[in-house]
Amino acid sequence: MNQPSKPIARSEQLYQRACRLLPAGVNSPVRAFRAVGGTPRFIADAHGPFITDADGNRYIDYVCSWGALILGHSNDIVSDAVAAAARRGASYGAPHEGEVLLAEAVNAAMPGMEMLRFVNSGTEATMSAIRLARAATGRAKIIKFDGCYHGHADALLAKAGSGLATFGLPDSAGVPPEMTAHTLVAPYNDLAAVEQIMAQSGAEVAAVIVEPVAGNMGCVPPADGFLQGLKRITEQHGALLILDEVITGFRVGRSGASGLYGVKPDLTCIGKIIGGGLPVGAYGGRRELMQLVAPLGPMYQAGTLSGNPVAMAAGLAVLQQLDGTAYERIARMAADLEAGIQQAAAAAGVPAQTNRVGSMLSVFFTDRPVTDTAIAAETDRKLYGRLFHAMLERGVYTTPSALETWFVSTSHTDAEIEATVQAFGEALREAAVTH
Ligand SMILES: Cc1ncc(COP(=O)(O)O)c(C=O)c1O
Repeated sequence: MNQPSKPIARSEQLYQRACRLLPAGVNSPVRAFRAVGGTPRFIADAHGPFITDADGNRYIDYVCSWGALILGHSNDIVSDAVAAAARRGASYGAPHEGEVLLAEAVNAAMPGMEMLRFVNSGTEATMSAIRLARAATGRAKIIKFDGCYHGHADALLAKAGSGLATFGLPDSAGVPPEMTAHTLVAPYNDLAAVEQIMAQSGAEVAAVIVEPVAGNMGCVPPADGFLQGLKRITEQHGALLILDEVITGFRVGRSGASGLYGVKPDLTCIGKIIGGGLPVGAYGGRRELMQLVAPLGPMYQAGTLSGNPVAMAAGLAVLQQLDGTAYERIARMAADLEAGIQQAAAAAGVPAQTNRVGSMLSVFFTDRPVTDTAIAAETDRKLYGRLFHAMLERGVYTTPSALETWFVSTSHTDAEIEATVQAFGEALREAAVTH
């Protein structure tokens, strides 16, 4: 299963050409391998749990398009649905049955999304949910958590995680201070900090937005009572709770983190999985809030390609294949992977912590439990970078940053998990002695 490393000449050529026209050769920063160094692999083909680069090297994939591909790559039913939909027209700019079917499927799984609106990305979903919360409350401030990433809208680029933390930029250039002036940032898992902010500014806070399981500082689960606490505090102060389930929606269970942890948000944002690999996001929630959305109400939000028929068909084909058995299976495989990683790290004498929720998993090189982004940032990320490359050489593609989450898909089998555990053990021994 594990292949010896092969040349990457074609990836290198493509990377050079790409760098002439695309910033760092990519269309989204973390793909550029800046956190781990080296040449990004240009992918030519992907099937099931495998991606194959332009030089013909095949890797077991744990990025899975950053969590979007819960069924793995090129799932037959999804591919057929996409092809059939494309033949009926790529975009109508008018309503169609596919939007109704996907909205019904989402609503059935996540009943808290009493009404919803489809958009084209997670960024659009969170940006629109914030606008809606402000419209509904007549308040301007929002609270977000340090290390939670909610896409790249200006107001949400205050202390965002993943790519930004990796590059050591607390905020993005080009965002005027006025745009984040209403964004208050609290440490993740720290209810007391939220209480404190609310005690001072509660009457001005429109919403608290949170990743219910953080995925952009590596995988960091919510502390016991954290989400319920946020629900209570927002209610007390007349603010809204927005769960950003762009990663967790249809990932940690069919009803997302909201179902898993039993917390009912006012608004929910989803994306990734509901598009089956095509660009889709959605925001939704309580009916009286969603009735404020144009043209029913005064909160304006629109999109030329929103509800795109090909994307709706892909999403529907994914949701139709996700039953309880699928979630049990991927959680069990991720648990096996986690156990194998822990054993391999112990055998190599390397301090390591794993965090896992269902099929979301991270390994951090530290002896401290990782409960927020400050702790995640202090872990041995250089060792992770060396491990990443040693894994790549052994045919396993993990996240090219320590501060991202690995995803197991339904297409992974025990054979891939076993091969990964073996590769991890070898790679870690190699990475731990190389300096
Ligand atoms: C939790 C979360 N919210 C929002 C987003 C933004 O989604 P998109 O990249 O589709 O704009 C992401 C992207 O990774 C995410 O992880």
